[in-house]
Amino acid sequence: EKIVALTAYDYQMAKIEDEIGIDVILVGDSVSNVLLGYDNTLKIGMEEMIVFTKAVARGTKRALLVGDMPFLSFQISKQSAIKNAGEFIRAGCDAVKIEGGEESLEVIEYLVKNGIPVMGHIGLTPQWILKMGGYKVQGKTEESIKKLKKDAKLLEQAGVFSIVLEGVKEEVAKEITEDLKIPTIGIGAGRFCDGQILVVWDLLGYTEPPYPKFVRLYENLRERIKEALLKFREDVTKGDYPSEKEIY
Ligand code: KIV
Repeated sequence: EKIVALTAYDYQMAKIEDEIGIDVILVGDSVSNVLLGYDNTLKIGMEEMIVFTKAVARGTKRALLVGDMPFLSFQISKQSAIKNAGEFIRAGCDAVKIEGGEESLEVIEYLVKNGIPVMGHIGLTPQWILKMGGYKVQGKTEESIKKLKKDAKLLEQAGVFSIVLEGVKEEVAKEITEDLKIPTIGIGAGRFCDGQILVVWDLLGYTEPPYPKFVRLYENLRERIKEALLKFREDVTKGDYPSEKEIY
């Protein structure tokens, strides 16, 4: 059975996801673009991440809760990395996620050794856009395929319990998945990963289009919200709201 994972950034959504049986809830640093209006994930820090994480943790009883360690929260020193990872655990997470392969290996090993479960994340890693030169699908060249495969193996050896493969050519994600004992969770990485994750507000159609190719729209919330709010506006301007039933 495939693993089903979703992001959540607030108490109500976490509660819904938890109640319907989502396996893994990720408080993704994607909250930076999705809800805070920053233009990338480099702009969010620990303080903001922890506010969202605490809200999600209050709504999560059953699912595995993973906190996304933001840009520069794990690179400065092992000591600051473990302090920051510890903040996610104290906020209610079962694990943290760290972007990067070989580059992040030492810190990942250190956290795992010290009892903090880590989920890896390789491929199109948004925290590395400056180095990658943009949001680019990975695994298209021999060099990139070699690095992805090597990174996946190194992360498994370092003790991560799962790896997110983001924006990776399907055949490469398939080979990596077959090669690892731990599960892979794909996002834009094709059909053969052990699980799938999406940004919840993307699949609900709440974020602003255009959407990446891999997003399947299960709702059209943005339009539905607009319609509802326009109706409210009309009711208020016409004096139809509140009605007799809606007053004390
Ligand atoms: O921040 C995020 O939402 C993520 C997922 C896309 C995996 O890292």
